[in-house]
Amino acid sequence: MTPTDSQVADFLKSATEAARTIRETVEENGLIHVFSHLDADGIAAAGIIGKALLRLDARFRIRVTQWIEEKIIEVLSDKPQLIVFTDLGSGYIDLLSDKLANFKVVILDHHQTVGEQPPSFVHVNPHLHGIDGARDISGAGVTYFVAKAIDKANIDSAAIATVGALADMQDKYEQRTLGGMNEKIVEDATKAGFLTVEKDLVFFGRETRPIHRTLASTTNPFIPGISGEEDKSLAFLASLGIKTRNEDKWRALRDLSDEEKKKLCSALADYLLSKGLRYEVSNLIGNVYVLNLEEPWTPLRDAREFGVLLNATGRMDKASLGVAVCMGDRGAALEQANKVLEDYRKNINKYLGWVMEKPERMKELDNIYVIYGENFINDKIVGAISSILSSGLPNTEKPLIAFANVEDQGVAKISARTVEAVVNRGINLGDIMQAAAEKCQGKGGGHNIAAGAQVPLENINTFIEVVNDLIGKKLKGDQIASGNRAQI
Ligand code: C5P
Ligand code: C5P
Ligand code: ZN
Repeated sequence: MTPTDSQVADFLKSATEAARTIRETVEENGLIHVFSHLDADGIAAAGIIGKALLRLDARFRIRVTQWIEEKIIEVLSDKPQLIVFTDLGSGYIDLLSDKLANFKVVILDHHQTVGEQPPSFVHVNPHLHGIDGARDISGAGVTYFVAKAIDKANIDSAAIATVGALADMQDKYEQRTLGGMNEKIVEDATKAGFLTVEKDLVFFGRETRPIHRTLASTTNPFIPGISGEEDKSLAFLASLGIKTRNEDKWRALRDLSDEEKKKLCSALADYLLSKGLRYEVSNLIGNVYVLNLEEPWTPLRDAREFGVLLNATGRMDKASLGVAVCMGDRGAALEQANKVLEDYRKNINKYLGWVMEKPERMKELDNIYVIYGENFINDKIVGAISSILSSGLPNTEKPLIAFANVEDQGVAKISARTVEAVVNRGINLGDIMQAAAEKCQGKGGGHNIAAGAQVPLENINTFIEVVNDLIGKKLKGDQIASGNRAQI
């Protein structure tokens, strides 16, 4: 639902209050610590606040982290005057009010809030004003509104906030459009000339991938006979007379003429319809968000590709490169970030190969699949592996959980994923992760379709059993309920 004017006004009022707190700290020459989330949205948020603080000539440091730890207090030994959390914090209010009672704290987040906050915290979160934080604004977006309230010049971060929202998959309005508060950010970015929104074929990789690879790697929409098959994709393009090369260079989707795009689109639509896939046809065309000031043929030009680059830097322990790129570095940081992206892709392929190599690495239980990443899969990449494998399971009715060990912290990091059809049967992975983790002295949560948890290593097997059980019970309940409905 589109937020009402009064919801927007209330939200912006809290953003202004956060901006005032930050400005005051800087005016008193206070030190500011920023903690941000490790994913692409969190890195974008860190870049936006970093750029705003740099503009103020503030004293600050930024840390990017997967979650907030009990030990947080130890890294605050230099006694900052203000601590700012971006794209995380709202789920940890109890822990923060316990550990940081004597600090000035600003939380800029869009996750569900859990716990009672002390009055000394400035908390900017769309959920507190009835605005949907899952699809109408991201962590980077919340941070953007605060940055804009600090100084209008920070409107030059609007395109980065768009990147954050797309990376968090918030393009849930018709034809993959960003809506709600995100729409206002897109408006700022387009008015200032940073962004152009176009209707086009929405396949991933429009700036950087050879067109036949773009087609073959699409899973949204999934095109049977073409998705996953580069040869078939090449043949399909050849049958339409669309050239895949320009002399010595592969052509990307961006290089096709309007006429070629029309031809491709209607051929794909005919093909999908011939397979009875009417719904997929409506997913061929959607909004594409182009960053006008970035170089063509680079990942930064397309906001969705930009998000993947940021995600790669976070997952490969190089988040500072992503933050620097978001703050405007187009030199050394960008060059290194591009290399990191390549390494990230190689790593993912390595892990996917590893999982497939031996059956015991992915087990099928009664109600779930489990990937035993243990010490092999990096805990920061296990989420991506879970996402990729979840859409291609032999039985997509069963959610997938993948875990990796984080030995130095003595915990297992779990990433759970499922598909829309399972969510529609009443499964909420966020609730299940939270409940199962609590039973195992851990912490869990997230969205209905994608969620995660951390539990002590020695409890991982119990955790898996509990999740398997909870999902089984829920599905049984669902069957009884639909059985009843059938009788009525
Ligand atoms: O922290 P958080 O919300 O940002 O992380 C989002 C994670 O959930 C990402 O890994 C994203 O790929 C996944 N996700 C998903 N499908 C959705 C929403 C999120 O797979 N519809
Ligand atoms: O880490 P992963 O990508 O699997 O997380 C999926 C989603 O679950 C993210 O939105 C993340 O913020 C959320 N999550 C959570 N609490 C945890 C772990 C993950 O809310 N303890
Ligand atoms: Zn986020």
